[in-house]
Amino acid sequence: MRAMVYRGPYKVRVEEKDIPPIEHPNDAIIRVTLAAICGSDLHLYHGLMPDTRVGHTFGHEFIGVVEEVGPSVRNLKVGDRVMVPANIYCGSCFYCARGLYSNCHNVNPNATAVGSLYGYSHTTGGYDGGQAEFVRVPFADVGPSLIPEWMDEEDALMCTDALATGYFGAQLGDIVEGDTVIVFGAGPVGLYAAKSAWLMGAGRVIVIDHLDYRLDKARTFAHAETYNFTEYDDIVVQMKKITDHLGADVAIDAVGAEADGSFLQHVTATKFKLQGGSPVALNWAIDSVRKAATVSVMGAYGPVFSAVKFGDAMNKGLTLNMNQTPMKRQWPRLFEHIKAGYLKPHEIITHRIPLEHIAEGYHMFSAKLDNCIKPVIIPGS
Ligand SMILES: NC(=O)c1ccc[n+]([C@@H]2O[C@H](COP(=O)([O-])OP(=O)(O)OC[C@H]3O[C@@H](n4cnc5c(N)ncnc54)[C@H](O)[C@@H]3O)[C@@H](O)[C@H]2O)c1
Ligand SMILES: [Zn+2]
Ligand SMILES: [Zn+2]
Repeated sequence: MRAMVYRGPYKVRVEEKDIPPIEHPNDAIIRVTLAAICGSDLHLYHGLMPDTRVGHTFGHEFIGVVEEVGPSVRNLKVGDRVMVPANIYCGSCFYCARGLYSNCHNVNPNATAVGSLYGYSHTTGGYDGGQAEFVRVPFADVGPSLIPEWMDEEDALMCTDALATGYFGAQLGDIVEGDTVIVFGAGPVGLYAAKSAWLMGAGRVIVIDHLDYRLDKARTFAHAETYNFTEYDDIVVQMKKITDHLGADVAIDAVGAEADGSFLQHVTATKFKLQGGSPVALNWAIDSVRKAATVSVMGAYGPVFSAVKFGDAMNKGLTLNMNQTPMKRQWPRLFEHIKAGYLKPHEIITHRIPLEHIAEGYHMFSAKLDNCIKPVIIPGS
């Protein structure tokens, strides 16, 4: 089969690989029909995630058709069209029993603090991902769901991570009626978080980025008020000015480890790897909210620590909520919103790229060329 493989930082290509076999009775093999590249994949692509091995296939956002099932699989049959959540999880451990699928304790032999995702380095278990013609899906009775007949395939694909994460980000903001919500980052996660914030009762939604084309999308797709942080001496002061000098009620970090906006943070995080990511956006979030507010962190950070303004968060009495998203937990509500037309997730997709050209897709998404917001990968085209 053809599969994307990692060759080192900023180097990916498509190679021939064996079609993965069934390794466990509850495995399924899925023929991938659509995959996506995520902002999280960029952290791998840039060589920032430990133990990303040459030859690894990325891709935790994919949908497809069941090609083969192991002997104990009961919920799927060959030919079913399925959407597969980004997390791999057992469904029955202490954490899974509490809906914390992203924190499953049974699927990652390499780290107890980290759950598991498809195609996300050996730090999350070393499972090959779905930017390929075929992928092995462990716990096939637990993760995948049939794609509802009425659902657009690209909408289903967005549910496997980006949309679920934006929605989860808004949920963890504990938004109450009328709240002012600031979303840092106008990538897919930030756009979906902004849109979801309205659904949860926000009275005002503000999106911050430095890419004007993405801020345009935040206005048209998410009806947000937008600010380009490069146009202000201090974006935090600006946020205070527009919120009665108190600060917002909720902030959502949808940027993560590779935040721009501070040369020092950038150099220490990405050049010298002295911290597990630059917390510029997270620190801005902490500073931009009022006292006793909530900060929701969807942006990903690597081990072990980052220079976060923890004392300020403590003294302000902030609530910090964060996690890798348990994707499938969000699906029932997302399905309702999509069916009702409140969410049209495919509207942020900007590029549809054949698998053979995935290297260009990574380059374009990474360098933010050609107004790229969300690139979708099409195997077998
Ligand atoms: N928690 C989860 O389960 C989960 C799931 C998916 C993605 N993520 C993480 O969410 C983050 C965003 O993902 P994405 O796909 O939207 O990525 P993306 O790279 O497309 O978007 C990030 C955006 O942040 C902007 N940005 C950079 N510095 C900023 C700053 N200081 N302030 C405001 N904006 C800034 C960038 O210009 C870009 O538009 C990534 O860190 C990703 O790893 C987490
Ligand atoms: Zn993702
Ligand atoms: Zn589990």
